[in-house]
Amino acid sequence: KIKGFIFDLDGVITDTAEFHYKSWQKLADEEDLFFNREVNEKLRGVSRMESLNIILADQDIPAAKKKEWTDRKNEYYQKYLTEISKADILDNMEAKLEKLKAEGYKLAVGSSSRNAKKVLKQLKITNLFDIIADGNSVERAKPAPDLFLYAAQGLGLKAAECVVLEDAESGVEAALAAEMRVIGLGPESRVGKADLVYANVSEINFEEIIKKL
Ligand code: G6P
Ligand code: MG
Repeated sequence: KIKGFIFDLDGVITDTAEFHYKSWQKLADEEDLFFNREVNEKLRGVSRMESLNIILADQDIPAAKKKEWTDRKNEYYQKYLTEISKADILDNMEAKLEKLKAEGYKLAVGSSSRNAKKVLKQLKITNLFDIIADGNSVERAKPAPDLFLYAAQGLGLKAAECVVLEDAESGVEAALAAEMRVIGLGPESRVGKADLVYANVSEINFEEIIKKL
C-alpha cells in the first residue's frame, strides 16, 4: 500500500534546469570549456561536481581548480534563484501536493541539489513536506539509492510504501535501486525504466498512480 510520495525537485516541482544551464554556460565561456544544451541535458539529476566531470569529459583538472569552478557556477546559480517565486511552481503541483497531504499521505523531497531548501523557501512550499532530503543529506548521489532511502526513513516508511517522482534517468535508477515504485516524467528514452511514465508534469494523475501501482 502506498503511504508516501518522494518528489524530486528540479524538473518535477519547478524547472530550474534553465538556470543551471545558464550558470554552467557562463562558467564554460569564462574557462573555455566545451558546453551546450545537449551536454546540459546529461546533467539532469546529477550532482554539482559530477556535472563538472561530465562537462570536462576526459580532461584532467586539479581538484582545487574544480572546486573553484563549481563554487563559481553555484554563485551564478544562486543569483538566478533570488528571482524565483510561487509562480515558478510547475502546473498545479501545489494543489496536487495539498490534496495528497489532506488525504493523509506523507510527503518528502528527494533532490540531489544542495540548494533544495533555498528553492523550496522561495516557492513557499517548505511546510508541505514531512522531510527534505537534499544534496547534503547523504554521501552517495543518485543513481545510488541512499537519498531516497534516507527520505523514506525520515517519513517512517518502508521502501515498498513509497512512490518516487523523477524526471532524470539517474533518479529513476536510484528509486529502482531503493526498491521503490517510480513515476517517470519525460520521454521514454530518458525515464522509460519507470513503472509509469507521464510525458510532462501537467499529465500526472495521482488517482491513476494510486490505483495502478
Ligand atoms: C539537481 C539538478 C541537477 C543539479 C543538481 C545539483 O539534481 O537536476 O542539474 O546539478 O541538482 O544541484 P546543486 O544546486 O547542488 O548545484
Ligand atoms: Mg530532476
